[in-house]
Amino acid sequence: MTTFTKIEESEQATIQVFPSHKLSKINDNVYGGFTEHMGRCVYGGLYDPENPNKDLIDKNGFRKDVIDSFKELNVPVVRYPGGNFVATYHWIDGVGPKDQRPKRPELAWRARAESNQFGTDEFMKWCEIVGTEPYLALNFGTGTLDEALAWLEYCNSTRDTYYANLRRKNGREEPYNVKYWALGNETWGPWQVEMMTKEDYGKKAYQWAKALKLLDPTIKLILCGETGHSEWDFHTLKECIRYDLHGLGGDMTASLIDMHSIHVYTASDDPVKNAIAPRSAERAIEICAGLIDLARIQNKVPNSVPRQTICFDEWNVWDPKRAPGEDGAEETYTLSDALAVAIWLNVFVRQSKYIGMANIAQSVNVIAPLMTTQKGVIKQTIWWPLLLFCKYMRGHTIATHVSSAAYEGETEPSWIRSAIDTPWLDVSAAVGDDGVVSMVVVNAHKTNAQKVDVFGTKPSSGRVQVYSITGDSWDVTNMAGTQTVGIKESQWDGNGSYEFPNFSITMLRWTP
Ligand code: AHR
Repeated sequence: MTTFTKIEESEQATIQVFPSHKLSKINDNVYGGFTEHMGRCVYGGLYDPENPNKDLIDKNGFRKDVIDSFKELNVPVVRYPGGNFVATYHWIDGVGPKDQRPKRPELAWRARAESNQFGTDEFMKWCEIVGTEPYLALNFGTGTLDEALAWLEYCNSTRDTYYANLRRKNGREEPYNVKYWALGNETWGPWQVEMMTKEDYGKKAYQWAKALKLLDPTIKLILCGETGHSEWDFHTLKECIRYDLHGLGGDMTASLIDMHSIHVYTASDDPVKNAIAPRSAERAIEICAGLIDLARIQNKVPNSVPRQTICFDEWNVWDPKRAPGEDGAEETYTLSDALAVAIWLNVFVRQSKYIGMANIAQSVNVIAPLMTTQKGVIKQTIWWPLLLFCKYMRGHTIATHVSSAAYEGETEPSWIRSAIDTPWLDVSAAVGDDGVVSMVVVNAHKTNAQKVDVFGTKPSSGRVQVYSITGDSWDVTNMAGTQTVGIKESQWDGNGSYEFPNFSITMLRWTP
């Protein structure tokens, strides 16, 4: 958590960090990914067997450079196969001999047919190679509960039953033990095949949750929420966060629903509004956490049932007018977007108490930090803050206090202005299990560097490691193939004031 005092531009800005004040554990799953059958994410991203550059492809047809990039980020969990795609996806089409898999029309993005050459077993193998955990979304559009149960049985069952045996027949004896399952995706959206009312969804989600947990009580189920601050969110929470002994086999510490999913994309043509827009997600998390508590209180859920957390399973900078989903949503990211992503991640660190998982949407080619070409990968501007957080912002959130002037202009969305402060300096800090402290400071001022008195950064070694990301202008990108925006390293003695460059991301890292 970061507390904030607003001061005048003419006053001295300060940051105080309290390394011994651990506030909450940062769930590693906050650095999750998302791969949807959309555009070039799966085909041409994860899986590229036709690529003429054979050195890039492994024996499974997977991109080796993409696998290496996921390993570099140490991505703990990856959501699949959608997104909107999942509303008409039949998992059974994507298993078994590849030459017998049906090619199907695809209704979410309409741009292509689904070949089903990459399906459940390929995704599981890819996850094993990357060293990440799968998170599957269920088809709440054209899918049935029977199909969902069959998929769960295929993935997780060790019994002598039909779908478990089908997995064995397809070459996989051991279960995949898929822990995370989403009860649909954006089922509230008018673009969705089988869009639902909140009443219909709440009823169906609860009944599916019961059946799924009867089959495998070890799984974690994720409810389909909206923005975190909507009628939909509260209704579905109230309907589904209940205590039902029948569905839980009498276990007083279990619950049918483990997490509540919310999705937010931010964007603005104005570089400062764009950078600051993720503050809306911070307020959304706070409101949603309150709604979770309210549902528990009103439904008298016993304290023995762990509090449900938020699964922010789609977040990023995305303007669908600029990068339409039907065209593959290939966003070109600027320095301003890198600042936005750093603020997004600061939000998750500050709010770690409430966040069980978060998944950048998406991981490759589609609104992604990583782009593939026939020859290799390009790391977009947003890759670099993501890398710093994935590597270093783990462990526990620690207390910080910021005194700074604030951006006072219009915001995107406009309601941010009355709901939450927008300091020029956006800060979060964490202490790792190794005792090393990392603090990220985003200076969202486009033209002014900020000379800040910093307290609490005294390093035992006399040295603070500094990682800095900035650029010559807000709109520089890396897409020409040159790494215009990247990380520059330097050192500081940790005493007195530090000057944070205009429009920059700085990570300070030291051992107290
Ligand atoms: O990530 C792109 C799309 O955005 C997803 O398919 C959908 O869930 C959301 O609307």
